[in-house]
Amino acid sequence: MLKADILIIGGGLAAIMTALKASERYKVTLVIKGSRKSGNSWRAQGGIAAALSSVDHPELHYQDTMKAGCDQNDPELVKILVHEGPKRLKHWMEKGLTFDKKEDGTLALGREGAHSQRRIVHNDGDQTGKICMEYYWKLLEKRDVTILEDHQAIDLVIVAHECVGATFHGPSGQVVTIRASATVLATGGIGGLFEATTNDPTLVGDGLAMALRAGATLRDLEFIQFHPTLIYSQSKVIGLASEALRGEGAFLVSEAGQLIMESVHPLGDLAPRDVVARVIQGYVHRGEQVFLDTSMIHKFEKRFPQIAALCKKGKVDLSQKRIPIRPGAHFHMGGVETDAFGKTSIPHLYAVGEVAGNNLHGANRLASNSLLEAIVFGERLGEYLANLAPRPTLPTLFSVNNKEQKVTPKLPNVNEVKKRVSHALNITRNEADLKELLHWLSQYEPLSERKYNRTLWSKKRITSDNMRIVASLLATAALDRKVSCGAHERSDTGKLHVVRDVQTVIS
Ligand code: SIN
Repeated sequence: MLKADILIIGGGLAAIMTALKASERYKVTLVIKGSRKSGNSWRAQGGIAAALSSVDHPELHYQDTMKAGCDQNDPELVKILVHEGPKRLKHWMEKGLTFDKKEDGTLALGREGAHSQRRIVHNDGDQTGKICMEYYWKLLEKRDVTILEDHQAIDLVIVAHECVGATFHGPSGQVVTIRASATVLATGGIGGLFEATTNDPTLVGDGLAMALRAGATLRDLEFIQFHPTLIYSQSKVIGLASEALRGEGAFLVSEAGQLIMESVHPLGDLAPRDVVARVIQGYVHRGEQVFLDTSMIHKFEKRFPQIAALCKKGKVDLSQKRIPIRPGAHFHMGGVETDAFGKTSIPHLYAVGEVAGNNLHGANRLASNSLLEAIVFGERLGEYLANLAPRPTLPTLFSVNNKEQKVTPKLPNVNEVKKRVSHALNITRNEADLKELLHWLSQYEPLSERKYNRTLWSKKRITSDNMRIVASLLATAALDRKVSCGAHERSDTGKLHVVRDVQTVIS
């Protein structure tokens, strides 16, 4: 059994920012499911949104974030994000984090959907996530932090309703128990539950399943953002084509070359993501391909090297200046309920980043607010933990080894789960499809089943179990919210009740 002051489960940007701050005072152990180079943060293309230009203001960023989120966001959290974001970014830039600059030496600010200003800092064109991760990992590696890679989390350890650590399967399948004064879930999103996604496929909502089994409160699980433009070639999704392309003038066209967003929304191609994704999905349903026309982007491969490489991989001929696209699951707005510091409903358990249900993003996240969230709320949680008094005593843990618990329940095939989730929890949902998914899932164990000792299961079984649990949670939440709002649209219960006022002026 290992011991840590602070145990962080996850290796994305939010996890690292928490670790950097918390390790200023405490012994931190960071446990990652894959390698340190896996996960969504590495893939982030667009950049980081922050009011850094002289013509911008946090108040404008606040308004855009609320509007994109259909005003369902927690206003206090949004204020923290937009006010602390520029300060924290400036601090890191002074320390050496760099972003792309214009010839005059000022920041090259990109634009994305539903932003009223150019306010997206980016790095190496579209490689912002990779460059930030490399920068922060270098800092973390200088710290006295224990890093365990290839460890799959099994369960949180709860004693007398308090969290005292977690169990993991190590690289060779051995069970590793880590006792900790504070445990942080930073396990990321749920895109891996869908066939078409921008996410690392290993992200299947493990944190949500563990939190549920531990008795934590979850919220807003039906709010799943679909990114409108995933590169789609040779009948498969190749990767993301950033919204930053549309910020630089690219536009969406039908097979016949007609503009598809112009008459739909005053912001046209830069309408909020949920709006654009729904329009494209309509074409996909009718069997029509939609394209991103990139003819106006000069030096495409220099400005967007990651997207150019993905196109090459997918055999998309960039000289045609038309990238075939379709929507896919991208970001989970819901998660494990937390307050503004990441505290969950279970003492000594915290959540940060995409797994956190802090209601920062409301019903639809504004573009490029996720890396900013990771920095602002990761640092806030790290600072909060570093300021906590040491936890006096931790209860002793005994390993459970009841042979009867070796019996494992019937579990679904993961590809079947993905297929059914992709159908029922698609961009537009309806009662019949959601009930059918829940009915199919009901042949397996009830959600609350805790009698099994999952440390005796293989990694594959744990993944399959977590996937069916999270699928049930998402479907139940989507069924319960009868009114369409933002990223959650019900085709069977009338029109969207939130109509965004669109007074936003694109600069
Ligand atoms: C994108 O580059 O389009 C994605 C960025 C984000 O999800 O905020």
